[in-house]
Amino acid sequence: MNDELTPEEKEALKDVASKLGSFEKQRGNLIPILQMVQEKLSYLPTQAIKVVSEHLEIFESEVYGVATFYNQFRFHPPGKHPIKVCLGTACHVRGGGIILENFERKLGIHYGQTTPDREFSIEKVACVGCCALAPVAIIDETVHGHMAPSKVEGLLMRIEIEKEMEERARIKDESCG
Ligand code: FES
Repeated sequence: MNDELTPEEKEALKDVASKLGSFEKQRGNLIPILQMVQEKLSYLPTQAIKVVSEHLEIFESEVYGVATFYNQFRFHPPGKHPIKVCLGTACHVRGGGIILENFERKLGIHYGQTTPDREFSIEKVACVGCCALAPVAIIDETVHGHMAPSKVEGLLMRIEIEKEMEERARIKDESCG
């Protein structure tokens, strides 16, 4: 994963640093601070962990230790196309784990991670409420039911094709404008 912050994230980090002053330097404030950081940046980049550890005067490893204990915190930016694979009971029984592995293999990342170009991220989630369609994956906001390993490549390919088409349309618009 590329650890470089985008210009927008750099701005958000400055905002985080200025808001830290309103939190007293107490360990008990760590969770609310991390929540504030994630709200601003959508995840907890290493640069933000450093700023938080300096503010609270505790080791970065301690900040990580606490943050990794809670599922609510992300350590990678969400991809442009977030993929959520359901591993609730019905999906798990019907091969949700194999679907997850297929996405991981095709994209070369593990769940909880984001591709270096930030196009895709993978998460595993608990029951999303449509067990009759198990196993289920959600890409962007669209639910894909009765998933099979053979469908994984097709779905990713469809996104790539749509992206190419958008890019071509954009270039055409620019050359016509
Ligand atoms: S267990 Fe996956 S939708 Fe319910």
